[in-house]
Amino acid sequence: MKRELEPMRLRSRDTGSCKRALITGGMGFIGSNLALRLVELGADVTVVDSRVVDCGSNPWNLSGAPREIKVIERDISEAAGLQREISESDVIFNLASEISHIHSMQYPQRDCELNAVAQLRFVQACERFNPGVRIVYASTRQIYGIPRYLPVDEAHPIHPVDYNGVHKYAAMMYHLIAARRGRLDAVVLCLSNVYGPRMAINIPCQGVLGNFVRGLMRGTRLEVFGNGRQLRDPVYVDDVVDAFLRAAEVRRPRSRTYNVGGPDALALRKIAQIASSAAGVAAPVIHPFPKERKSFDIGSYYSDSSLILRELGWKPRVKFEEGIGRTLEYYRKELSHYLEPDCDHTGCKLTEQKSARGMIAAAL
Ligand SMILES: NC(=O)c1ccc[n+]([C@@H]2O[C@H](COP(=O)([O-])OP(=O)(O)OC[C@H]3O[C@@H](n4cnc5c(N)ncnc54)[C@H](O)[C@@H]3O)[C@@H](O)[C@H]2O)c1
Repeated sequence: MKRELEPMRLRSRDTGSCKRALITGGMGFIGSNLALRLVELGADVTVVDSRVVDCGSNPWNLSGAPREIKVIERDISEAAGLQREISESDVIFNLASEISHIHSMQYPQRDCELNAVAQLRFVQACERFNPGVRIVYASTRQIYGIPRYLPVDEAHPIHPVDYNGVHKYAAMMYHLIAARRGRLDAVVLCLSNVYGPRMAINIPCQGVLGNFVRGLMRGTRLEVFGNGRQLRDPVYVDDVVDAFLRAAEVRRPRSRTYNVGGPDALALRKIAQIASSAAGVAAPVIHPFPKERKSFDIGSYYSDSSLILRELGWKPRVKFEEGIGRTLEYYRKELSHYLEPDCDHTGCKLTEQKSARGMIAAAL
């Protein structure tokens, strides 16, 4: 039976003041959209982001609320220095991450540091400084690997095909173990392909939808790899933000892990066609898979999001046609804050100079 929730209650149960939310990775794509929405709802918002090179951090993402959002530039692995922010939070949204599957295969150690080690330290700090706090962790569909059946529900076997999926799974388990031990009140969302305003379209290895939008903003024809029939369920960022808000609010969620996917399963070439026609660009071309990507291609994927509908009342509302239109409109206005005119923004190799935290050299 479908149950609509009340909108997020913004009163802290302890103090009665506006809810204080801490968002890790809040200068990135999804975190910044969440931060802006929380400000609209009247929350006190603090963002922690270390601005990892070649991740999606962009100060412009928070330009809609420059005074309302407190920004701390710090790595979440240095969580001891976040004692005050963690202990004062009514809710923590944990989105800090390196999301690139390709980077993770090129530099597994770097991915492990960013997605597993830093997360373990942060989870332990939350246990210490704010026992029992609700923490909502952003996991990924990538943990499931090549689907054994479709749509993929939460009971699907875990079998990631890249290091990013392995380390994200480890981090998700740190949260769930803390919840099982009664140390944290953790909820995990396994997100499908998210798209919308504030995606890092300048970073070529963050995902297919960002690449599509970058190409379209430059008026180039899109390229689809494989036969183009692989299914995906793109989910618009406003819907994802709504899932985070619901995950923050529900008192005693029966399940702790929820899949969050888009409203429709669409073939990649259909996605490319819809996006191209919304941008007024010629139809996409289909190419064979490049060798380096084939090894961690997962074929078709789409989510079964019925559990989160049943338990948290969430469902995706924005169809791809509408969401991609809104996305292109955003970048038409704000493009100069995302793409440098003289840079082609292709090629996925991180360089030692560009690397965060000097970990690339060690990984080579
Ligand atoms: N975008 C998607 O399609 C998608 C899909 C599945 C899951 N997710 C998950 O959602 C979350 C947010 O993704 P996004 O698309 O907004 O990514 P993003 O790259 O835009 O933002 C991630 C942010 O985290 C920051 N960060 C990384 N490691 C950090 C650390 N150790 N300390 C502090 N800050 C750190 C980066 O600087 C960046 O600003 C991630 O956990 C990601 O795995 C995203």
